[in-house]
Amino acid sequence: MKRPALKLSLSLLLLAGCAPTAILPPAAVEASAGRAHAVLDPAMEARIAGMVAGMTLEQKVGQITQPDVRNITPDEVRQYYIGTVLNGGGAWPDNDKRSTVAEWAAWADAYADAAMATDMAVKIPLLWGTDAVHGHNNVSGATIFPHNIGLGAANDPALIERIGRATARQVRATGITWAFAPTLAVGENRRWGRTYESWSSDPALVRRYGEAMVRGLQGDLTGDGDVLATAKHYLGDGGTFNGVDQGQTRATREDLLTRHGAGYHGALDAGVQTVMISYSSWYDAGTGQDHGKMHGNRDLIAGHLKGDLGFDGLVVSDWNGIEQVAGCAKDHCPQAVNAGIDVFMVPEDWRAFIANTVADVREGRVSEARIDDAVTRILRVKMRSGLFDRPASASVLTGRADVLDARALAREAVRKSVVLLKNDNAALPLQRGRKVLVVGASADSLSNQTGGWSLTWQGTENANADFATGQTLLSALRETLGADNVAWSIDGAGVDVSQFDAVVAVLGETPYAEYNGDVRYPAPVQHSLQHPADLAALQAVSGKGVPVVTVLYSGRPAYANDLINLSDAFVAAFLPGTEGGGGLADVLVGGAHDFTGRLSFAWPGSACSTGEGAGQIVQFARGYGLSYARAAPVGRLPLPATPATCES
Ligand code: BGC
Ligand code: BGC
Repeated sequence: MKRPALKLSLSLLLLAGCAPTAILPPAAVEASAGRAHAVLDPAMEARIAGMVAGMTLEQKVGQITQPDVRNITPDEVRQYYIGTVLNGGGAWPDNDKRSTVAEWAAWADAYADAAMATDMAVKIPLLWGTDAVHGHNNVSGATIFPHNIGLGAANDPALIERIGRATARQVRATGITWAFAPTLAVGENRRWGRTYESWSSDPALVRRYGEAMVRGLQGDLTGDGDVLATAKHYLGDGGTFNGVDQGQTRATREDLLTRHGAGYHGALDAGVQTVMISYSSWYDAGTGQDHGKMHGNRDLIAGHLKGDLGFDGLVVSDWNGIEQVAGCAKDHCPQAVNAGIDVFMVPEDWRAFIANTVADVREGRVSEARIDDAVTRILRVKMRSGLFDRPASASVLTGRADVLDARALAREAVRKSVVLLKNDNAALPLQRGRKVLVVGASADSLSNQTGGWSLTWQGTENANADFATGQTLLSALRETLGADNVAWSIDGAGVDVSQFDAVVAVLGETPYAEYNGDVRYPAPVQHSLQHPADLAALQAVSGKGVPVVTVLYSGRPAYANDLINLSDAFVAAFLPGTEGGGGLADVLVGGAHDFTGRLSFAWPGSACSTGEGAGQIVQFARGYGLSYARAAPVGRLPLPATPATCES
């Protein structure tokens, strides 16, 4: 029997208990063409095949099943041979929001240990996924970075890679090794409640960032500070009609694959190991054919992603995403298995899913070969990430509270991601030693500053103290300018503005995630309509002869010409995270740091302009952004009447 020497030595390594892991040859990376280029390791594949051959059908189906930890005990993980779990937004150890990193790590360990206590001949380690989408955002005490919309404005892939590294370390501190990030959506319509999860409407930027973030998160996959990344949500999540979350993306195949697919090319180049499917559906604008929900799209999952693009990692479904496929239920969807999904996020109804899927195979609706392929991919990803060699918690970072601290990096990211839209009459920078009046409810709200996916899924129900770390802009201004020089009034009512040298109005959206953040067509999208108290606060202080500097926290480019006209200076700060206060103070005060952020989405010039295409009124184009070095008067902006409805 012919056997290459290399293969033999790898097998010996395996026998010695040190499995080799896949590292991409540098040459392959350089020759990148937007597709996967990992080379299958024959020894690893042989080992996996042996394991799969030794598994019962129930064990295999357990391996592809992903419950939410809130709905399964460690002992059930053992009993049902569960392969992966997730903690959904707002799931914490003992249901305690302020759990310590040690408690998180102990929680993860309890589940990991249970998976190693099955009665299987070969034990399979558990993989745990978490939504670390702007830092390890479910964990109190973890620095939370700006949401992606702000990072896009920084236009700095090296910064993104460093944020990926820091986030991965935070995740490893809690004993977890899989991040459900990055989101590679090319956001098209600012009605969409997930606009802030998108870096940009520019596919080229999304591609560069996708590559950088995956490199940052994954490192070489096996280091103590490395986690698996997830390219999500495949495909077309950012392109839904009217910006409806989980809606229908109308695009030609070419447009879908190149524009919405751009981020995947970057992520695959960087060796991303997991891809999450989008809730959205695809309508082919070229042929007029409705292809239905992506979770059932065999052509794009098995065909394009795994076939054309050569993706050999695992594909995971989104939270109950299978139930939206025509003919499917939350706990039963042979179509999705056959479409090529490998891991099924069935957070609640995992028991029934296992029973139904086993029956699907026994009764021929799903082939056992398809299940074997899914299990093979899951084991491959686990093996490549070193889980078979060392338990997740063996990282030197596990349990270390100090690793959650990435404040300096986050503050730098804030400075680089805020965009100066207007600075007339040199209202900025604020001068030290002067008296400043701060107005607006967002000035002292870490909740508005961090947005959705912060401690809880929606980012609501969070008091400042819940974050355990972080600084509001009010606090940062007090620190920088001296507490005696800073007064605060939420609504500015009855304040004698003439007693101050400057006003800082901190306005903001209140937190939301996913569909809860949609502004449904045909409602106009205008910050002052959605948040009238912000307009009132600004009106109370504007036009009193004292310069007004407005800072806006928003998850979308929000039409705000009325607010901008009431302000001398206007800063789009997006959702800057726990270090938003300090980072903003760095650029607002003294002028030591200049503004370098540039819009990564066009900023609208009317309440019914929700995109960037033909017929849309754009106030500030993508790429726009002033600085101290590059001043330009903005003057009075037009105020097109906002209709009661955008329906034409
Ligand atoms: C979101 C995903 C997320 C998952 C798990 C879904 O609702 O669309 O982005 O990873 O939940 O929390
Ligand atoms: C979970 C989130 C998830 C969402 C989907 C929530 O209960 O905590 O992680 O994305 O449900 O609907």
